[in-house]
Amino acid sequence: MKNILLALSLFMTLISRGQDPFLKGQVHFPVGASLNPRLLENNPNYRARAISEFNSVTAENHMKMMLVHPEQNRFDFSKGDEIVNYAMANKKRLHGHTLVWHNQVPTWMKEFQGDSQAWEAMLKNHVQEVAKHYKGKVVGWDVVNESFLDEGSLRPSIWAEHIPDYIAKSFQLAHEADPDAILFYNDYGQDGKPKKMQAILDMVKDLKARNIPIHGLGLQMHINIDSKDEELQKVIEQSVATGLKIHFSELDIAVNPKNQADFVYDETAKKAQIAKFNLLFKTYQQIPSSQQYGITFWNVGDQDTWLRGYFKRPKEYPLLFDENYERKGAYDELLKSVKNVN
Ligand code: XIL
Repeated sequence: MKNILLALSLFMTLISRGQDPFLKGQVHFPVGASLNPRLLENNPNYRARAISEFNSVTAENHMKMMLVHPEQNRFDFSKGDEIVNYAMANKKRLHGHTLVWHNQVPTWMKEFQGDSQAWEAMLKNHVQEVAKHYKGKVVGWDVVNESFLDEGSLRPSIWAEHIPDYIAKSFQLAHEADPDAILFYNDYGQDGKPKKMQAILDMVKDLKARNIPIHGLGLQMHINIDSKDEELQKVIEQSVATGLKIHFSELDIAVNPKNQADFVYDETAKKAQIAKFNLLFKTYQQIPSSQQYGITFWNVGDQDTWLRGYFKRPKEYPLLFDENYERKGAYDELLKSVKNVN
């Protein structure tokens, strides 16, 4: 009780001095979360946490192809715009996710018929309508998401199949539509996959050599407590060496990667998770500030995680806030750890 009162009074003092006592106020880069407009609207605790803890926002789903472009001749920006309104009303930086991906593609796109010129025109229309709609609102875009397989080859997709050089074209199209946007290539699981990482680095080199506008690399960071520190550090180092901006774009740290039904989120798992959060933030704090785009968590509280929803792994606890949007021990440890560096 005494501790809680002490912590509370420290918070109140900092707030009254105009200092931000939250994680985002203790680091020199944006700290974001991906958000779901339904939860923002219906769950006051979710909304309150999102507002107090994060100064950047990504739409978890509502700017993806399937959601913004449900029919060939119809865009639906309504839900994405709710995220825009939230960002504007609460002065949050907005990151766009994602223009071109092999997943969450509407049926009409999958069934599209035409030669490569027709496909390219279709892609152009999509990328540019979306980028123009959000121009001046988003600061950056994940232009292309997850194009490489673990063994380093181009992932088979409708884009790879129908549009030669689709990655470069997507970046050019996005740049034409929104010349001020910071353009990212975003991918997951580079750690421990040297061929995948190399493919990404080769792509960056190639795009730069051709003067194709690419400005950043998104490392999703859907990692787990068994992810290897050296491998994570290596891919961060390699990414930083490109000179591009670096975004840890979808951070969550799974504690039960094997999805064991009888899993208990015990002290051992919690400690391992804390160590990983601290490692990632510490490593990120050492990146040159001109390359720090920020760290974004993939949603807010443990029950909101896609690991439970999409992957149906009910015993997962990958974020900093619990089911009641209370800070977990990991939050307090991270707060201490980031302060030690500054
Ligand atoms: C996920 C969302 O979190 C889920 O709600 C949705 O059902 C599937 O997509 N990589 C990405 C994100 O780039 O867009 C994905 O988001 C997670 C993996």
